[in-house]
Amino acid sequence: MKNYFSIQDIDSLEQWVDEAIEMKKTPLADKNLGTDKTIGLLFFNPSLRTRLSTQKAALNLGMNVIVMNFTGEGWSLEYGNGTIMDQNTSEHVKEAAQVVSQYCDVLAIRAFAKLENREDDYQEKVLNSFMKYATIPIVNMESATGHPLQALTDAITIKEHKKTNKPKVVLSWAPHPKALPQAVANSFVEMMQQMDADFVITHPVGFELASHITNEVPIDYNQENAFKDADFVYVKNWSSYTDYGKPLTDDSSWKITENKMKLTKDAKFMHCLPVRRNVVIDDAVIDSENSIVIKQANNRTYAAQLVLKKILKNI
Ligand code: CP
Repeated sequence: MKNYFSIQDIDSLEQWVDEAIEMKKTPLADKNLGTDKTIGLLFFNPSLRTRLSTQKAALNLGMNVIVMNFTGEGWSLEYGNGTIMDQNTSEHVKEAAQVVSQYCDVLAIRAFAKLENREDDYQEKVLNSFMKYATIPIVNMESATGHPLQALTDAITIKEHKKTNKPKVVLSWAPHPKALPQAVANSFVEMMQQMDADFVITHPVGFELASHITNEVPIDYNQENAFKDADFVYVKNWSSYTDYGKPLTDDSSWKITENKMKLTKDAKFMHCLPVRRNVVIDDAVIDSENSIVIKQANNRTYAAQLVLKKILKNI
C-alpha cells in the first residue's frame, strides 16, 4: 500500500480489523519498524484525536514525528495550474509537496471541506495535489469528503462490541449550530457497506448524502423508527449535499435523547468526537454505560498504527 487516501485502499477489511485488535494487545511489538523514519503531519484544520493518536501510533512504531499547523503558520498554498500568483497565495503545492518529501518518509494531511463549492471539495484538491507532487506515501487525516482513519476505527470498535454476527447499525444525523462537512458520514457509510451489518441512515429530508456514496443503503426519514432494534447508534451532523453546505437550524427534535435510545436493542452509542453536549446529544446518553465514545477514540491509535505499519513495510 502506498497511500491511505480512502477505505478503498484497504485490501481486506476483515483481516485489517483483526490485525488492529491483535496489535492493541502488544502495541510496541513493532517498535523498531519505523527506526530512522520520519512522519510529517500537516494540519490545515484543528484536531485533538487525529493529531495525538497519529503521533502516538508513529511513536509506537519507533518513528520520528514532525507536526506543522499550516493555517496561520505555513505559507498560503496555490493549487491552480498556470496561476499568476500576484494575490494571496505565496507558494505552489508543487514545490511544497516536493520539499516536504525530502524531510519525511511519510506525510499525513488534514484538510477539511470549505463547503463553498461542491465540485471543488469533491475533487479533493489538497489531498490529490499532495499525492500528485509528493514522492512519499500520503495518509488522509480527514479530507474534504472522507475520514478513512475514523472509519477504520469505527469498524474496529463495532467488531469489538457487537453481540450478533449481523448487528443493526443506524447512522443518525443530529443537530449542530454550524455547517459541518460530510467527510465522517461519507467514510462511515462506505465502511458499513463493506461490513456484515443491517445498516440504515436516518436524517431530515434534504440532508441526503451523495448518492454515489450511499448507493442502495436504506434511508429512513423517521429517526425513531430507524432506532427500533438497533445494536449501534452512530451519530453525526453533516450539512446539505444538494443545497451544498447549508446547515439546518430548527432541528432540535433530532437531538439524541435517553427516550430515543430506549427504542433500540440496548444499543451502543458512537460518535467520532468532538461533540456538543445537549445540542447533538443529551448528557444522559453520552454519560451512559452504553456510550463507547471514549473506547472508540482509543481505537484511533490502532487504526493509525495499522495503516502506518503497512506503509512502512512497503517503503
Ligand atoms: N474524530 C476526530 O477526527 O477528532 P479530531 O477532529 O479531534 O481529530
